[in-house]
Parts: sequence; C-alpha cells; structure tokens
Amino acid sequence: MRRKTVRELVVAWATIALGCAFGCALSCAFGARAAMAADKDAPGDRPWMNTALSPDERARLLERAMTPEEKIGLLHGKLGTPFRGEPMPDGAVGSAGYIPAIPRLGVPALQESDAGLGVANPGNVRPGDDATALPATLGLAATWSPDLAYRSGVVIGNEARRKGFNVMLAGGMNLARDPRNGRNFEYFGEDPLLAGTLAGEAVRGIQSQNVISTVKHFALNDQETGRLSLDARIAEDAARESDLLAFQIAIERGKPGAVMCAYNRVNGAYACGNDWLLNRVLKGDWKYPGWVMSDWGAVHDLDYALKGLDQQSGEQIDTQVFFGEPLRRAAAAGAVPAARISDMVRRVLRSMFAVGLFDTPSDKGPIDFDAHASDARQVAEQAIVVLRNEHATLPLARGTKRIAVIGGYAEFGVISGGGSSLVNPVGGPALRVPLGGEGQFAFWREINVTPSSPLRAIRALVSEGSEVVFNDGRYPSEAARLAASADVAIVFGLQWMTENFDAPDLTLPHGQDELIRAVAAANPHTVVVLETGGPVLMPWLDKTAAVVAAWFSGQRGGEAIANVLFGAAEPGGRLPITFPEAESQLPRPEIPGYGPPEKLPVTVEYREGADVGYRDFVRRSQKPLFAFGYGQSYTTFAYGGLEVSGTTDVTVSFTATNTGMRPGYAVPQVYLTSGPSGPDRRLLGWGKALLAPGEMKRFSVQVDSRLLAKYSTQARGWQVAAGKYEIALGASAEDLVARTEHELRARKLDP
Ligand code: BGC
Repeated sequence: MRRKTVRELVVAWATIALGCAFGCALSCAFGARAAMAADKDAPGDRPWMNTALSPDERARLLERAMTPEEKIGLLHGKLGTPFRGEPMPDGAVGSAGYIPAIPRLGVPALQESDAGLGVANPGNVRPGDDATALPATLGLAATWSPDLAYRSGVVIGNEARRKGFNVMLAGGMNLARDPRNGRNFEYFGEDPLLAGTLAGEAVRGIQSQNVISTVKHFALNDQETGRLSLDARIAEDAARESDLLAFQIAIERGKPGAVMCAYNRVNGAYACGNDWLLNRVLKGDWKYPGWVMSDWGAVHDLDYALKGLDQQSGEQIDTQVFFGEPLRRAAAAGAVPAARISDMVRRVLRSMFAVGLFDTPSDKGPIDFDAHASDARQVAEQAIVVLRNEHATLPLARGTKRIAVIGGYAEFGVISGGGSSLVNPVGGPALRVPLGGEGQFAFWREINVTPSSPLRAIRALVSEGSEVVFNDGRYPSEAARLAASADVAIVFGLQWMTENFDAPDLTLPHGQDELIRAVAAANPHTVVVLETGGPVLMPWLDKTAAVVAAWFSGQRGGEAIANVLFGAAEPGGRLPITFPEAESQLPRPEIPGYGPPEKLPVTVEYREGADVGYRDFVRRSQKPLFAFGYGQSYTTFAYGGLEVSGTTDVTVSFTATNTGMRPGYAVPQVYLTSGPSGPDRRLLGWGKALLAPGEMKRFSVQVDSRLLAKYSTQARGWQVAAGKYEIALGASAEDLVARTEHELRARKLDP
C-alpha cells in the first residue's frame, strides 16, 4: 500500500468528516441518552449542560468554549500509575490511564481502567482494592448467552463507578485465529457473530452504568508474538467478513464510546495510524461517532492524527508525546487542520455526553460483592463445557464414598490469566506462583490463583460420610496411588496464559499429560477438569471417563466446577473455539515469529482469509478433536422443525425438545452450509434455553444478511447473490441434524 502524503490525508479526512456529519445526523440515537431529565436550568455560561440537546450538539457547544490548550489536553494522557520514577499523576484514581479534568468548564477527568474480566488494579496501585474477578471472556463466550454477557458488563460498570472510574478498557474481542494466542482468554472466540453479539452486550452492560467502554484491539491483533511490530496481512474482503465484521456487529449493538486501536500493523500500516482502517472503514463506512484511543505504546508518529487516531494513551511509553506539544504546534501552523482538532475533541466529548459522564453524579457507594459473586458463579457454571462423559459418569453422585482430587492448586482456587486484564479478586489472590523468566514483561509471568477452591467446594457438596482426599499432583506415581484408592478421581489440567506471550504448542505444560495418563490408568472413573486459556491437546482422552473445560472460572470458579460435576448446576457451555487434534491442522502449524531470533519484523499472512476456525476446518475437510459449538448436557435433546422464510430478510425458526430425564441447557445452532458460489460454513444464529424434561421450545432468529453475503471491494459493499442457499440446524458446526434449501433474491448492502 502506497503511503499517502499529508495533503492527501487532509483531503481524505475532510471527505470523511463531511460524510460523518451527514451520517451522524442519522445516527444521533447512536448512544444518545436523549434528553435525560432535561436540565432546563443549565447555566447560561454552560449551555452544553442542557440535557435536552443531543450529545453531538452538546459536544459542539463545549468544544467551541475550549482554549487550544484545553483541546490538546483532552487528546493525550498519561498512565494513571507511577511510571519510571514519575509519581502517579495528581487526581488519578490509580489505573491504566488518566486524562485530567477541565474544572473551568466542568469536564470530568477520564479515569481509565482495564476491565475485561473485572476492574483491574495494576501492581496493586490502589492498595488492597479488590474487585469481582469474572470468568475468562472465552468462558463468557462459551455460555452463548447475550444475557450473561450484559450482566457481566453491569457488574464491571457498577464496580467501576463505585471506584471512581468512568472509562473501561474492556470489550477485548480479537478473533481466535490461532488457538495458541496468549490473549484468547480475554476474547470471545473464533466466530464473528458470536464474538460481536456477546461483546456488544458486554459493552451495553458496562455503559448502562454511565461508564464508557471500549472495544479492542482494532484490528487483527490475533497473536501476541511480535505484537508491537507484527504485520497482519489479509485481503480486504476477507477482513470485512471476519475480524472486522465482529467489531462492526459489536459496535452496532454496544455503541462503545471508544475504540482502542491495536499494536500491530494491518497490511503494512500500524493499526493506530492506519488511514484505511480508521478513517475509511470505522469512521467512514461504519459512521462511528465515538473516539479512537491508542493502545499503550502504539503511537509512532504525529500524522496518526490525520490517519484517524483521536487520542494518545499511556503517552510515556511512546517515544514522544506526539499528541501534546507537537500536535499543538502542528495545529497552530495549520499542518493539522483546526477542523480536525475540533473533530478529535468532539468525538471524545460526544461519547462522554452520550454515556452520561456529565449528567450523573459520582456514586462511591458500597459494592454488593455477594450479588456480583453470584453473577460470576452463574457465568462460570454456564461456561463449563462437557467434552466427554462416558457411561454418564457425570454428574457424580454426592454419596460417592471416596473421591481423590488431584493437582491444579485445587486446594487454593482456580487460576486466572495474566497481563493487563488481571483482577485483584475479592479476598486477594489465594496464591501467586512466579514462573521466572527474563525480558520486558517477565513481571507478568506469575500464576495468580483466585480464592475459590474446587477442593473446598467439593467437600462442601458431597454427602456426609463421603471422603475427599487430595494430592498436589507433583508426582504422577504418587497421584496414581491415591487415585487407585478412590472410587472417582478428579484431576485438574492447567494451561496458564498471559498477555504478551503465546503458547508454543497446545500441550498441557509441566508434564501434566503424564499425570493425567497415570491417574486415568489407575482409576477408570477419572474426570479431567481443564482450566485453560483455550484449546489443548488431549493425548489421554480415550482413557478418561469424563472431561470438562472450565476455562479460567473466576471469583466462584471452584463452586461452579463442583456444582456442575455433581449436578447441582447444569452445564450450559458450548465451545466458542475449535479444539484441534494437532497443531498440524492449523492454518499455520508454527506461530509466525515464535522463538529466536527475537525482535525480527514478523509478518503473518492470513491466507485462510475469512475462514477462521471451524470455517477452515470444514473447508479443508479436517476433523477436529472437538468442533466449534460442541458440548454435552446431562440430558438429551432433539432439534428439529427447521423453517426458513423471507427472500431478502431471512428468518430461521427451529425447535429444541428435552428428550431426557433431567433439565438441561439446549443450544441449537443454525449454520449456512452452502450458497450460490459453493460450500461455506457460517454460524447464522442460535438459541439457548434451560428446558425441563419433555419441554419443547421454538426459537426464531433474524439472520444478519451480511452472513449470507460476500463483501465486494469493487462494489464497496455486501452482496447477497441470487440463488439457492442451504441452511442447517445442529448441535455444533459439524453435527448437523436437519438441512433445508432456500432461494434468495440478489441484494446489496452498505459496507
Ligand atoms: C494492552 C491493552 C490495555 C492497555 C492498558 C496494553 O498492554 O494491550 O489491552 O488496555 O495495555 O493497560
């Protein structure tokens, strides 16, 4: 891609600004908390406090009242923590980012905290300040529940507000193009519809509490290896049909106040200075009215201001505070047009007005941690995916005489992922296990254990007279001896993951495969509980009685695991990501750039295009270990009654019937299996319901036409071709039980 000149960028930007002014008139409702309790008494010198006006109008009025210095001040910010000998900025609550208030005009400070899995407390900068640790986002995705995503958002937003924060660096939603990505646990899996829908709901939940949320990291930040320089290369149509579609859906649904651009490059240009990505796609095609903030350390040039970046975050990490003095000078000299500075400022203010930051008094009341822990438990339970259950081993009988629990720090709690999303859980971490290692982010290499012990929870659940014995799992032979003495063995398999590091492969580290093999050989009733940041290989699978994926399960993870194992809660999870048989099945058997020599420029070619995860497995006729969408229940279901209607807007309806003896969660899924141009596999929709034995429910899903379309770069939009489409109903991307053909008319949709 040729680099544009500054003049071309100014022209391009002006075109978009005009387009957006038009689009924004249409999309005023976008986030508009239109006329709350109309503040007719807005003082004459602060007309922007009139809540009867739209967020756009209020932002315009306020921006016009600001001095050039005040405007620039809103466009860059420091870390909200002490940094390299600098103290914490005055006024900061203590968190990832801070942008000072403008008291003269009543503009509140932006107090920004990481919050993917709960409100973070980096380096314990707010000593002892705990927050509810929610399950991993990948677990949330495994619930397939928009409602739980929304409720998780409400928990985060509520705690944030009570702690004095008003911007959550949440909504992590990069697609899982590589199961070894160290941050998959922070994201919503591999499918654009599932990820976009749930991320949108999580953002909506946060913002319902008058706290802004981001979605991040825009875009194609799909591996951690070489993340600061990685060039992700992909054809435009493929990007639009996959990673970008996920963001587009989330933005439409959640209306996030801000979008955080990513560290990596996309087709040559850094994401935070990527004119195509930010100006053309996000602000032009999608008419996004909020602001683009950089990731921490992702700004390399002043001209990013013309390429679509509105605010520089964590400025001390970059080589210069580009959006400080240099931007002020460039604006004064006209190199960055005054109109663009106004646009940048208004975007920030508009989101602040739209989400209610000006109109809702701060609220530092007490947090109902018990209620939030109960939400966390429900998410964790519904996230658990039963992968294997031979001879109905699960649910275990509470009266089982002797149960051996092995490994996984199960006497302390459940593990959490590492990095900026780490939450200081209520009660503090039960255990911190440093893993050592060198390098810039070595401090993140520490397993934090959330204080919710599966061992304790199992002991609390079994009948009186049952004995629960524990072994730490260090020696397979010793663990096997204990397992042989028990009626049931529950063995934990951990794969700790963290930001900044991918896993080199999908094995369970620390010789745990050997441990599981030894335990399973000693006891035919062995149940494996996986706490992982994504898929792992299971060379011992057919020797086990049952396997469940519990992810990183958060503040009440131990209780959730015990409840599901013993049937006090029904497992509600289905895989949001494909579990491969081996790394050789992946589009890239090796992670590009992994291992020495370090620091070479890394390029990743996303040749699989829009066929992320299951789509690629189907396209290449590969059989995974466990398919996307898969998960068992303790009851059985019949899915049927598939009907498709509409020749332009398509509605699919279907039924689920509980044919077993206990209640259970049905998650029927609908996939496109082929279109006029041939076979394809795309999730079109799903339903989820807890059904009593014998109960039947009919679901109806409105299909997003973009999932039936192809993106045309020539026509600059989505095109649904006329012709026959095959739509299937099933229990996973592979297990399809009914198919029907449906004729559609040609249709073109906006980009
Ligand atoms: C991460 C972001 C995070 C930011 C602030 C970066 O390292 O990539 O996800 O929000 O730090 O902590």
